[in-house]
Amino acid sequence: MRNLVVYSSLTGNTKKVAEAIAGALPNSELHTSVSNPAVDEEDNVFVGFWCDKGQIDEPALSFIKNSGINKVALFGTLGGDPTSEQAENFKKRVIEAIPAHIEVLSIRLWQGKVDPKIIEMMSKMPGARPMTAERQARLDEAAKHPTIKDCEEAAQWAKEVCGI
Ligand SMILES: Cc1cc2nc3c(=O)[nH]c(=O)nc-3n(C[C@H](O)[C@H](O)[C@H](O)COP(=O)(O)O)c2cc1C
Repeated sequence: MRNLVVYSSLTGNTKKVAEAIAGALPNSELHTSVSNPAVDEEDNVFVGFWCDKGQIDEPALSFIKNSGINKVALFGTLGGDPTSEQAENFKKRVIEAIPAHIEVLSIRLWQGKVDPKIIEMMSKMPGARPMTAERQARLDEAAKHPTIKDCEEAAQWAKEVCGI
């Protein structure tokens, strides 16, 4: 049995959390979702995703749908506060997007910095949200994540999922 950690990451945040998880688990393997690793039935599969406009990112979802797995532990990163109501709603949307025959063993979120180039690009898009003090404060907080503490928490969470 392997502990397979498969992640999707555009700017490195989810990759960092995935590395912490793989580093904490015995007999682990780390793969990107686009490399589409083969999965054995007895493997423990962790899939890492990032929040793309309120949804699980497409490469992560596509791996989950096409890999043939029947259970998964999910971890994700987002720019918003992972303890917020918005984050709870995001988790619900992620679970809704997973095909019903796949059991979600656990789902956890951590905060991740938002690439300044993305913030700049989004500010120029039609209908862009204004930069309020509250939003700036959230982005400033996000810029510190994932922290070492986040990675330690992720490692602990993964061990608990595996029962070790
Ligand atoms: C196109 C795009 C859309 C995003 N949409 C959201 C969003 O709706 N809510 C949010 O909290 N963060 C959003 N983010 C921020 C990312 O989810 C966050 O930076 C995440 O940690 C990125 O993970 P990565 O570094 O592994 O790619 C978005 C980022 C990008 C690039």
